[in-house]
Amino acid sequence: MIDVSLDQFLELSEIEMCDYVKEHAVLFAQQYNRKELDHLCAVADAARTVRKTVEGADFLASLLRNRSVLNFFVQPSSRTFLSFSQAEAMLGMSRQSVRDIKISSMSKGESLMDSIHTFISYVDMIVMRHPDNLAGATAFWTAAKSHRRLKIKGESRPVPIVSGGSGTRQHPTQSLLDIYTLERSFEKTGGIDGKTLMLVGDLKRGRTVRSLSFMMKNYDGVKLIFCAPDEYQMEDDVLNFLDEEGIAWRKVSSIDAGIAEADAVYMTRIQDEWNKEGQGEGHEAAQNDFIFRMKHLETMKPTACLMHPLPKRDEIEQEIDFCDDPRVVYWRQERNGMWMRVALIARLFNVDTEILNYLKNSKL
Ligand code: NCD
Repeated sequence: MIDVSLDQFLELSEIEMCDYVKEHAVLFAQQYNRKELDHLCAVADAARTVRKTVEGADFLASLLRNRSVLNFFVQPSSRTFLSFSQAEAMLGMSRQSVRDIKISSMSKGESLMDSIHTFISYVDMIVMRHPDNLAGATAFWTAAKSHRRLKIKGESRPVPIVSGGSGTRQHPTQSLLDIYTLERSFEKTGGIDGKTLMLVGDLKRGRTVRSLSFMMKNYDGVKLIFCAPDEYQMEDDVLNFLDEEGIAWRKVSSIDAGIAEADAVYMTRIQDEWNKEGQGEGHEAAQNDFIFRMKHLETMKPTACLMHPLPKRDEIEQEIDFCDDPRVVYWRQERNGMWMRVALIARLFNVDTEILNYLKNSKL
């Protein structure tokens, strides 16, 4: 299924790689079309309802009881690791994890390719987070080239590789849960089409905001406002993509400059772990114009929402965390991640329609 060498594969653009990846892995936000996104949101909603009863929970846990997964996270993670792990448990999968290169054979000099080749001897899916931008693509190529195949949808498929964050470039499953959160927040205001999203913070090295921007190709009339200090502004590859897709964007240099217009404000932290000279010197504080304060909540549209992929530091004023304002959705966004990951895994193993059918046939 893959007719090019690893070096040739890694030289392809993300869009070109998508042609190989198809529905066999989850590496790039650009893989998703509108139909697929709407479907995943519907499955996430269904799983959420089905799990409310013991019978429903038992049904979900029977779906992938014969499948196993490795959560291979060699970069820090709380939410992505835990929500994947919980989603896998809900579907009945048996789970293993490797969370530190130091305790894997990679510390003995084993290549990423050999490690992946080994892992897929034991498990039926790998969820991976890795600091290297190309790690997910390398793992996918290795899985596609290896002899191990799974029977899914009557087809013989490679072991699926799911990116849980890859370097500074992509975090496709975060953008899936962000889409789900936006859809839920805009349920009464016509969905994501026609909305204005303001993305704030480190847009240059934040993989979540890059993936979310790519996702916007699926929605009509969306406008993006990129709000960041000059040194952390959105990169040209994303801006060129948006131009090609006809998506309007503009850059601003304070939250005040976009807050009245925004239907969603998406905050991010300064990704200073990529700052070589800053290492070990403590966190870089968010600049004043990029801190979301109570006064911004007061000027935000009544139907808007405030999101954050988390973890956060000082970029959102702390009293906002516990205020009762329904527009503050970042804690619900975390939980949405678990349901979206249930939907995504169910889809990869072709048991997604079973969840929809169970709901239809039950009285829930
Ligand atoms: C993000 C990540 O790891 O890219 N976190 C997450 O997955 N929710 C954002 C971040 O680390 O700032």
